[in-house]
Amino acid sequence: MNPTFRKTPLIGEPLDRVDGRLKVTGQAKYAAEFPRPNLAYGYIIQSTVARGEISTIDSSKAEAMPGVLAILTHENAPRLIDNGEEEHFTKPFVLQSAKIDHFGQRIGLVVAETFEQARDAAMQVTVNYHAAEPNVSFEKNLENTFKPEKLLIEELKPETRRGDFEKAFSESEICVDEIYVVPNQHNNPMEPHATIAEWDGDHLTLHDSSQHVNGAQKTMAGLFGLDLKNVHVISPFIGGGFGCKVPAWEHVTLAVMAAKRVGRPVKIVLSRQQMFPGVGYRPLTWQRMRIGAKRTGEITALGHEIRTPTDVAHEYIEHAGAATPMLYSAPNLLVPHLGVELNWPRGTIMRAPGNTPGLFALECALDELAYALDLDPIELRKRNEPPHDPQKNLPWSTRNLMECFRVGADKFDWSKRSKKAGAMREGRKLIGVGVASATFPALRMPSSARVRLTPDGRALVQLAATDIGTGTYTSQTQVAADTLGLAPERITVQIGDTDFPPTPGSGGSWGAASYGSGVLQACADVRRKLLALTHGDAHSPLKGLAENEIEFRAGRFVAKNDSACGESFTEILKRHSLTEGIEGHGRAKPGDEEEKFSMHTFGAQFAEVQVDADTGEVHVSRFLGVFASGRILNEKTASSQISGGIVMGIGMALSEASIVDERYGQFVNADLAGYHVAVNRDAPQIEVMFLEERDDKVNPLGVKGLGEVGLTGAAAAIANAIYHATGKRIRELPITPDKLL
Ligand code: MOS
Repeated sequence: MNPTFRKTPLIGEPLDRVDGRLKVTGQAKYAAEFPRPNLAYGYIIQSTVARGEISTIDSSKAEAMPGVLAILTHENAPRLIDNGEEEHFTKPFVLQSAKIDHFGQRIGLVVAETFEQARDAAMQVTVNYHAAEPNVSFEKNLENTFKPEKLLIEELKPETRRGDFEKAFSESEICVDEIYVVPNQHNNPMEPHATIAEWDGDHLTLHDSSQHVNGAQKTMAGLFGLDLKNVHVISPFIGGGFGCKVPAWEHVTLAVMAAKRVGRPVKIVLSRQQMFPGVGYRPLTWQRMRIGAKRTGEITALGHEIRTPTDVAHEYIEHAGAATPMLYSAPNLLVPHLGVELNWPRGTIMRAPGNTPGLFALECALDELAYALDLDPIELRKRNEPPHDPQKNLPWSTRNLMECFRVGADKFDWSKRSKKAGAMREGRKLIGVGVASATFPALRMPSSARVRLTPDGRALVQLAATDIGTGTYTSQTQVAADTLGLAPERITVQIGDTDFPPTPGSGGSWGAASYGSGVLQACADVRRKLLALTHGDAHSPLKGLAENEIEFRAGRFVAKNDSACGESFTEILKRHSLTEGIEGHGRAKPGDEEEKFSMHTFGAQFAEVQVDADTGEVHVSRFLGVFASGRILNEKTASSQISGGIVMGIGMALSEASIVDERYGQFVNADLAGYHVAVNRDAPQIEVMFLEERDDKVNPLGVKGLGEVGLTGAAAAIANAIYHATGKRIRELPITPDKLL
């Protein structure tokens, strides 16, 4: 068979990452690695108070230091434009006034010939403040709440109700009423944020570590009053993001200002410490769960009150109650979100925002209810399984949560556990198992793409999209290969560039569904254009055949009634002298499915832990995740997404927390020595399984998202396993040894 073409579908195959070789050989270029001629370096100056005003800023000594090219402060920085657009939840205004509202606020930039010179000079800039008493203690301000006007996702109301919660709760036969706390957590991608800004007249080019190139383009165009077409953002490879690289932050604005000021390209790379106050984090959540139930386990009242800190501009409120209204049947429900304004930096989305902290509380509370009822926690969930979305009153596109639990329980030997907590022990090790549900919305955004087919039998696919490690290059290669009937080696996918057709960012787990729908359309468009060429073409064996009499197979059009009669697309292109090939365009957008169906990914998560009875150390010894996530484009990258989420869940359960110094409002453990992300040694062999799930409602590919859902139930499953092992219910993360002794 001609190796150009391919008959069997690639979608679903565990294709190796097409960009894998580039990455392991160091050829993949990350934002800071693009060589630019005459490059200058920026180093950020940060506030050392959390509230007040800069009274004086003296940079005279720094200015005279070797290599220093410019020092930007609020006194000399250009004015930025506020066009009032709401579209981007983070507006990276910087150096616009003397006002300080959090510790670590960006208050200046030194630009020099080298990074070291810039950093050295930055240390010599003297800043004096009129400092005010900052509001930096969440605990002390717990009662000082306000009702937010809106949450990040418009569809989610700050307060959700159904039925009469208070009445049902007071009348319930069994109740749980507990408080759960998830601390501040930082996204901490391996690659720090980095930007190179370069002006050419009024045209701006940015090499930026960005999950959303069209977003960064729009934000910077807005701030600097530029036409969109004059802002070019490039981000081909990204060393992780987890949400903190969706918005463009102040350092991007600073790089753009500085490049203009010195008339040279300027690079800013954040240090790990600088990432803590300046590129978002998942703000802590204080969550009061109240569940009222009948003795049968039927939940009658579900209350989930969230209090969460926010910056003075109230930019981000963690929507931890997002999944509570849809996950279980509860006829009476109350889910209010309350903000607590503090002099803290802005929070932002972090992997599975909302659901991750929310499901820690909800899924632990359900476990507590199961023990109170002496009921298997899986059986409890089964008894509260809603036949349709109980809040939206819409049918599910697909919901196979119970099947995930059934398959998982079987695989994990769930039935072999002791029914009682604290009853399984091997020497010093207390053994326990726990479960939790996982869920995340299956979202999709408008997304476009173009594809060029060339007579040498290759296809070039271009879309703005990004790959944050999720596998976009690979999955889109598979979508194009199948739609064009080409071998994957014949497909080149180019992404991470605003010169390509616009797409949403990699966020919200909508990448594969959104990008894939656009690529699918673009490839179908090429096929249609090619087919049209054959119709009136005397030299084509298919001449005169109508579209419905022809089918497409492995890069060939063939007559339906005679498979010997046909020709390949390369033959068509050559005969028509289309030496440049032919281009197809896709502009896919969701239809009205969101109004007709409730669309979510579901999963069941099973953890086994060993707790050292003497030291309180917890080791996760087994972990299984079973997911129903529609069609799986690539089994390998998909399970890698899920295991990554689970590893993050181990960190969340056992070690991750960003601690604020309650005197000054700074994060005190602002590096990877003080902030412990889970590493290989913390993770067991993680097993991931996908159910066969056909969802023809959710989008043309039948794909649901996978990037985030793996994290959502993981910490709760581990906390529940720790309870099962020890009989100790720890409701405040992370579960460090001191809490177990
Ligand atoms: Mo995700 S938190 O939308 O990158």
